[in-house]
Amino acid sequence: MSVETLPSKGTSLATSLLADADSARASRFRNDDFQRGLARWNRARLAPGFPDEHGPGAEERDARLRRQEGEFLDALRAEVADEAAAAPRDADGFIAWFEALRERGPGQHDPLFPWLAEEASRDQMRWFLGQEAAGEAGFEDLLACTQVRMPPRAKLEFARNYWDEMGRGNPKGMHGPMLNVLIETLGLEADIDDTVWESLALANAMTGMATARRYAWHSVGALGVIELTAPDRSAATAAGLRRLGFTPEERRYFDLHAVLDVKHSEAWNREALRPLVEEDSRRAAAIAEGALIRLHCGALCFERYRTELWQ
Ligand SMILES: [Fe+2]
Ligand SMILES: [Fe+2]
Repeated sequence: MSVETLPSKGTSLATSLLADADSARASRFRNDDFQRGLARWNRARLAPGFPDEHGPGAEERDARLRRQEGEFLDALRAEVADEAAAAPRDADGFIAWFEALRERGPGQHDPLFPWLAEEASRDQMRWFLGQEAAGEAGFEDLLACTQVRMPPRAKLEFARNYWDEMGRGNPKGMHGPMLNVLIETLGLEADIDDTVWESLALANAMTGMATARRYAWHSVGALGVIELTAPDRSAATAAGLRRLGFTPEERRYFDLHAVLDVKHSEAWNREALRPLVEEDSRRAAAIAEGALIRLHCGALCFERYRTELWQ
């Protein structure tokens, strides 16, 4: 323990040592090396492949990274555990708590977004979108992984949401390619080595929760809180793009999500969260943790983006 972190008057030595242990554990994951390694593994392991591509050492590598991913997720859980424990366990109370995250959740009303809408230059907007693109884990694939063996009513809602992501069968309406139009206009490449660790941590956390089944309820909360909070951020980004002279086609992804996700969020909370919590109140805590993890990771990104953009 350094001189700076010696316990102040009124703080017990045990509490202070505990806090030191927590921050030491967290700092293991808060750096480029760890998050880039995990991001590369995620990119490789989720790509469709062939049996003979599973070379020597692959199993050991997968086991090591899976264990590290679990440790990372558990460290994130520890950071939000107290806040999540305050979430009610009854369905009415839980939905009210969850919906209130839109106003008072971590990272909400971040000053980055009005600035993007009103002041950012084209280069600054380009840098921001590059970070976001590299950190984009693909909502539709996260949802597809999450919905496996879910109860029927929630699964139906996930299917409707997924179908919207797929443009309801129309390639021009698919959300992923819609974002790619803008990425291509700006000549951005989602390069892991050019991406800040906060953005990779967000994508790695979302991917981990969606693919490790013991975090399935966490993933339901994390995806649901994206639907809840994306409209305001999307509207601000769309306003910035309009101000900078981007075409309606280039802005379409953000214009669409400013409106559509309001409906997605209402349906997610009514058709998925409510029945899932009614059926088993233990899910409330897991869903709450997942939502808070997503918002905490987002808040770290916004803070880092501001540091980079406003220096
Ligand atoms: Fe979408
Ligand atoms: Fe959505």
